[in-house]
Amino acid sequence: MTQRKGIILAGGTGTRLYPITIGISKQLLPVYDKPMIFYPLSVLMLAGIREIAVITTPQDRDQFIRTLGDGAQWGLKLSYIEQPSPDGLAQAYLLAEDFLAGAPSAMVLGDNIFFGHGLPEQLAAADREGPGGTVFGYRVADPERYGVVDFDISGGVRGIVEKPEQAPSPYAVTGLYFLDGSAPERARAVRPSARGELEITSLLEMYLREGLLHVQLMGRGYAWLDTGTHGSLLDAGNFVRTLSERQGQQVGCPEEIAWSRGWIGDAQLRARAEIFGKNGYGAYLRGLLGEG
Ligand code: G1P
Repeated sequence: MTQRKGIILAGGTGTRLYPITIGISKQLLPVYDKPMIFYPLSVLMLAGIREIAVITTPQDRDQFIRTLGDGAQWGLKLSYIEQPSPDGLAQAYLLAEDFLAGAPSAMVLGDNIFFGHGLPEQLAAADREGPGGTVFGYRVADPERYGVVDFDISGGVRGIVEKPEQAPSPYAVTGLYFLDGSAPERARAVRPSARGELEITSLLEMYLREGLLHVQLMGRGYAWLDTGTHGSLLDAGNFVRTLSERQGQQVGCPEEIAWSRGWIGDAQLRARAEIFGKNGYGAYLRGLLGEG
């Protein structure tokens, strides 16, 4: 099978976070000690993906390039695709069609934060699935805000409903989608919904109807965090701070993942640490090298 490629969807206007996001993209806002996009980037890296396209608005593109560069510092190959207007998640597959060139993909939303013991193994399992797609269900208190999994009586997946008034289950579909190489072609058949968007759920329904959609649940030991409101953005930052200070281990650190997987060597890690000087992030990287 062709090597799976990654997509980070980091478009959108971020109006719900105004006035913060008037001058800066939501996905570049800090979540404690690093830009939000580092967290979904780390998820793709943990899935073993090294060739990644970042989809941004035309006006935010340069800031993303300044923040992430070409990815070589993490042993990655990053490219950038502009999304002229945010017309729904499924649109990403149309925009990324040339980039994917028939390869299977993992798309993650640039504002989704995942944390949990066993995440790399769960991602590896999704990567190994053959044709079709894998999405992740996560129990939330307010499923109506998301795509929701509709289970039949035997626990099979009957449907995925986008922002239902009455949620058929408490399981939201997270913003992480492993789809096979047919996704761009299928996305062309998606028609705009009542809210005028090319819904990811419509694309997922296509896979489901053919018996090609796997839904893996992320258990209660996982955190899937929202950053969609001022309060939840702060909560996510506090979560990362609490965990990383308690354990003395970073959450969502691309340098650490790249180095531990051998994608960059000691010298490259040291060079990154230099950039951060004496701050905590730099000290952490030096600590990995035993040069604390
Ligand atoms: C989107 C998807 C929804 C999914 C959610 C995850 O919602 O449409 O199915 O559950 O992302 O973050 P939106 O961000 O467009 O409200």
